[in-house]
Amino acid sequence: MSGFSPDWLALREPADHAARDPGLVAALKRALPAPVLAVDLGCGTGSNLRALAPHLGPAQDWVLVDHDPALLAAARARLAAWAGQAEAAGDALILHRDGARIAVRFRALDLAADPAAALRDAPDLVTAAALFDLASDDWIAAVAQAVAAIGAVFYTALTYDGRETWTPPHPADAAIHAAFLAHQAGDKGFGPAAGPGATEALASAFRRHGYAVETAASPWRLSPGEAALLRQLAEGTARAAEETGRLPPGDAAAWAAARRASGTGAVIGHRDLLAVPPGWNRRHDAPA
Ligand SMILES: C[S@@+](CC[C@H](N)C(=O)[O-])C[C@H]1O[C@@H](n2cnc3c(N)ncnc32)[C@H](O)[C@@H]1O
Repeated sequence: MSGFSPDWLALREPADHAARDPGLVAALKRALPAPVLAVDLGCGTGSNLRALAPHLGPAQDWVLVDHDPALLAAARARLAAWAGQAEAAGDALILHRDGARIAVRFRALDLAADPAAALRDAPDLVTAAALFDLASDDWIAAVAQAVAAIGAVFYTALTYDGRETWTPPHPADAAIHAAFLAHQAGDKGFGPAAGPGATEALASAFRRHGYAVETAASPWRLSPGEAALLRQLAEGTARAAEETGRLPPGDAAAWAAARRASGTGAVIGHRDLLAVPPGWNRRHDAPA
């Protein structure tokens, strides 16, 4: 198990989809060839495919990669339900939705060991969502190297950027946030995590390979009506902050209890990033 439950991923999916920067999605659409072959790293239950496929044309092939077989099984079920019409063909699931034919294959792989192993099909697009803040600078450099070696476009959404504003203010906000940021830097399976520095590490790594990089903010703007997501977010934040041992006993629990009260809202910062290889537009005849 990865520690990411299908229920948590389902709860955050509407906020994730609403937060993505539409300008970068439009630029991604212009940069890609048709038909497209995409690989989604750390796919969870397939949220990234559900967000992007409506923008990517009538013929799509996807390879969904995760190290958690339970999430891959949940992805298969959720995608079939999302499409409405789906059939198995060999090891692929063929989805039909809004006139598009989307062939999806599922791969159980530990990406930490070797990110290049996920790219053996030489995809046009390597993508991920809510993954790279878990990763180390070294792993990010290895991903950029592997993507550049096959000349693919790279797009990632919803990388945590460390900015948070919770409302109404609470006296423990600053201490909880400082402890949470310390927790962000811990090892999540890829070495010491880049956390909020991940987007900058990705941008630098891709620029070293000559890629044109754009980033854009994609914050969650959560209003009190999104109570279930806010409650779980507050509990997860408090748990992570508590684990660092940097807080007086009981402070994290008291903060989470206060945040469970009605009226709590939050803005949680993320960034999206698009990296396009040198010469890509000329090769694919796409508008600049
Ligand atoms: C925050 S979740 C995001 C899931 C999905 N991309 C989404 O947007 O809903 C991070 C995902 O990365 C996967 N993951 C974490 N470490 C991994 C590893 N070493 N190899 C493959 N997948 C990994 C987890 O299983 C989980 O599905």
